[in-house]
Amino acid sequence: MTAQQTSTSKEPQKMPGALPLIGNMLKFGKNPYEYMSLLRSKLGEIGEFRLFHQQMILLTGPEGNEAFFRAPDDQLDQNEAYKVMTPIFGKGVVFDAPPHIKDQQLKMLMPVLRDKPMRTYSQIIVQEVEEAIKDWGDKGEVDLLEFMKQLTIYTSSHCLLGDEFRYELNEEFSHLYHDLENGMHPLAFIFPYLPIPILRRRDKARVRLQELVTEIIEKRAKKEEKSDDAFQMLIDTRYEDGSALSPHEITGLLIGTLFAGHHTTAGTATWITLELARNPKEMERVLAEFDELYGHEGEVTFQSLREIPIFERVIKEVLRLHPPLIMLIRKVAKDLPFKDYVIKAGKYVCVSPRVSHRIPEIFPNPEVFDPDRFTEERQEDAIPFSWVAFGGGRHKCSGNAFAMLQLKAIYAILLRRYKFELVDPPESYQDDYKQMVVQPGSPCRVRYIKRGTIQQAASADKNEASETANDQTHFKVEVDYDLCQGHANCMAEAPEIFQVDDKGTLTVLQETPDNALLKKAQAAARYCPTGAIKIKQK
Ligand code: F3S
Repeated sequence: MTAQQTSTSKEPQKMPGALPLIGNMLKFGKNPYEYMSLLRSKLGEIGEFRLFHQQMILLTGPEGNEAFFRAPDDQLDQNEAYKVMTPIFGKGVVFDAPPHIKDQQLKMLMPVLRDKPMRTYSQIIVQEVEEAIKDWGDKGEVDLLEFMKQLTIYTSSHCLLGDEFRYELNEEFSHLYHDLENGMHPLAFIFPYLPIPILRRRDKARVRLQELVTEIIEKRAKKEEKSDDAFQMLIDTRYEDGSALSPHEITGLLIGTLFAGHHTTAGTATWITLELARNPKEMERVLAEFDELYGHEGEVTFQSLREIPIFERVIKEVLRLHPPLIMLIRKVAKDLPFKDYVIKAGKYVCVSPRVSHRIPEIFPNPEVFDPDRFTEERQEDAIPFSWVAFGGGRHKCSGNAFAMLQLKAIYAILLRRYKFELVDPPESYQDDYKQMVVQPGSPCRVRYIKRGTIQQAASADKNEASETANDQTHFKVEVDYDLCQGHANCMAEAPEIFQVDDKGTLTVLQETPDNALLKKAQAAARYCPTGAIKIKQK
């Protein structure tokens, strides 16, 4: 029995209506979000339901989210819950690897998503967006979700896999990727290797992709000039014992990175247009912000994309209302205490960002699209673990900075060229729960109309303007090491204070730096994708 667990610990209450064999599957399957909201309204922040023979415990609200995201891996096991991914990522890769290998593999991905390569990525994304809309003309209609899916697979594969896949193997890669995606079939959750055509195609695609990866590794080894994509970083990286990743592992890690970001970003990118088109005043504010920043031809760079406050709040609000993952699941390996309850080993525990994001006591009028809820003055997400679109704790999505960069770069280009309107009635655009990653339902038609030439307004340096007088001599730097994932943006912003080694381990060089470093430290806190840094002025 643990310190928090007492003899009075209760088991969570169960949802009524479970049928023999299938449990609550019918109602859950019809609309998982509505079912989980119902569970919260009936049972509160913890409750149990059953999917076939699996007992599932749903935790909602900031405290439930925190218990879930802060639990160590040997207590809440991710691997068990994601067995469906093993045939796609490969045996021995990430969720199928022993914990010490999985940790090293995930760490190997960190440099890929760090500040330095991001500068290259922003240029690639801008180039891909310009290319994607070059034949759009003055006006027209487009299925925006399909467009965003296509665009984000080009941007991600170009940034991560490099030129060979983007240009030489583009068509074959699209087919292989499609077959792998289809392999995330509901049946595969229960029978991952069932000999049905869709899963056979998945396995063939995995084999072929690995062949292509192996060929490229061999070709690149003969070249003098090195590529600067994620693929090359994985070729060059080493395990702690000095061994290199095998082509099988490189293939799996690359697929994993693409999968993690593709549909989630495509869905969010689509919802941004839909919500802005439904809320014209917000659209005007966003256009004004971009116009001031870039005008018609201003260069869209990594630096200029860092701070776009109105649009960042729009993204955050879109992710509050439409988080792509409506639930995250782990298997309980050791009993998990939560308040007066205990969640027994062997059950599954899940959280739902979507349900947690619509709790009216935290986000008043939760159904209303209101980006200003995230302003400095209102900060409705101030309670830790209340906004969890990217997860939280040590498992916070390490691709969140890349996702934000993509969204900002896409819209910096799209909105300087076009205005968007909905083709169908506004309320007809709804999330589709049939997909594992929730996205707007199809068709998702929008109309685009070319904008005239935009004059870039002269803007004052916002950082200078917002600088506040401060007469103290020192400030304090606090780091939540549980949240740090080694992104190293902090070191890029304030190398005098933060040092991150090749393994992603952070050292704070000065805990109470001189005020001359305050602006740099604040930038480090702002650009840390996991929110691990707090700056305290006495
Ligand atoms: Fe860690 Fe954030 Fe720095 S994740 S290394 S504190 S940028």
